[in-house]
Amino acid sequence: MNTEAKKVYFHTFGCQMNVYDTGKMRAQLTADGFEETDVPEEADLVLLNTCSIREKAVDKMLSNLGEHRRRKREGQKLTIGIAGCVAQERGKELMERFPDVDLVFGPDGVPAVRDLVSAAMEGKRVLDTDFLDLDNYPFVADVDPSDHGVSAFVTIQKGCDNKCTFCIVPSTRGIEVSRPAAEIVQETRDLVARGVQEIVLIGQNVNSYGLKRADCPTFAQLLYQVAEVPGVERIRYTTSHPRDMGDDVMQAYRDLPQLTSHLHLPVQSGSNKILRRMKRYYTRERFLEVVDKLRDARPDIQLTTDIIVGFADETDEDFEETMTLLDEVGFVGSFSFKYSPRPGTPALKMKWSVPPEVASERLTRYQDRQRELSLAWHRGLEGQTVDILVEGPSRHDEGVVCGRTSTHAMINVPGDLSLVGKTLPARVTRGFTHSARGELV
Ligand code: 5AD
Ligand code: SF4
Repeated sequence: MNTEAKKVYFHTFGCQMNVYDTGKMRAQLTADGFEETDVPEEADLVLLNTCSIREKAVDKMLSNLGEHRRRKREGQKLTIGIAGCVAQERGKELMERFPDVDLVFGPDGVPAVRDLVSAAMEGKRVLDTDFLDLDNYPFVADVDPSDHGVSAFVTIQKGCDNKCTFCIVPSTRGIEVSRPAAEIVQETRDLVARGVQEIVLIGQNVNSYGLKRADCPTFAQLLYQVAEVPGVERIRYTTSHPRDMGDDVMQAYRDLPQLTSHLHLPVQSGSNKILRRMKRYYTRERFLEVVDKLRDARPDIQLTTDIIVGFADETDEDFEETMTLLDEVGFVGSFSFKYSPRPGTPALKMKWSVPPEVASERLTRYQDRQRELSLAWHRGLEGQTVDILVEGPSRHDEGVVCGRTSTHAMINVPGDLSLVGKTLPARVTRGFTHSARGELV
């Protein structure tokens, strides 16, 4: 392919799967002679990797797309590609509505990005939203060239077989396929060889890894295999479904010091009625049981979660149950959202009776309380000495680096970049809402 010195600009929206997919596109295109640029005005190719989880994400992407289209209208020679979940969901519509968009492909197009881009740059208009063959799913092995930091993602599955009624992901990312364990271990080795210390295993529902394949270990067994790779200091994973947190995973928390003492466990709601409407297949009581078991297995574990407010016919009483669950578990952080109706999801057929302003009030109340809990957590660390893995420069202060505890608290300490990648003891001096300050001891 003749793409010498062509420049590509990526813009990634959405979740860790998209960040990872962009990395895989970066790996393939730079191997093909593309150079990455962070200046869209210099680009020959713009690739937007899009998210459709909430309408807001789609709006953001459309307004961003508008800027690229404007520059193209004003004369920049530019190929515009839309990848990811919005492309999958609305591919045809995007092609029709935006004649100056050259290329549209869904998440399953990532392994073929070279050919797709090459056709588009030769002047064809390309739409590819076919799902790939599940039996031989071509997970991309090339490592993202920008993965030489402290922490890197490794995908362990694609797609999702759950049918949470609010969620568009099963239709944008298709049926769940587990990646062969040998590939996961090999990618882990490749990343460690580049200096990565922390491996984050990612998938839409990691706990169901391997269950459909006789030749795959279970998720818990996979954790042991990854932990055996020399040089892996920390292992995290996301996203977990509370229904599928089995006793074998609890055991892994007892056995594997590499597993960090933090788990992101989306609960969505504290009300059993709403959980039923969401088809989450667990109750508040079962969720609390999982939390107890986790704390038995790993007493210092800290939990974060995802919450949706204003779903279906959520009453004040239902919402109060979410508020009391927040306190009962003591989540140290939450991603919380107002329900956003998504095309093609089962929830569209449900009665939806929460006025937007009520949903907004609930969200504000939830977030206010969460901030108090996060602040209390960081303040509780004051005076303690904790081990932090130094990740990089602080975003705000020069001469300060930030690192994470195993529980995922962010601690800023005076220091220089030579500390990056080291695990060092730090004494916490002051806790804030989103982080704490400390000094190395
Ligand atoms: N509206 C609002 N939030 C949603 N999420 C998923 N679908 C929707 C929706 N339709 C949230 C869930 C999920 C997180 C990734 O996004 O909380 O865990
Ligand atoms: Fe967004 Fe979900 Fe797609 Fe991730 S999988 S990019 S969160 S729609």
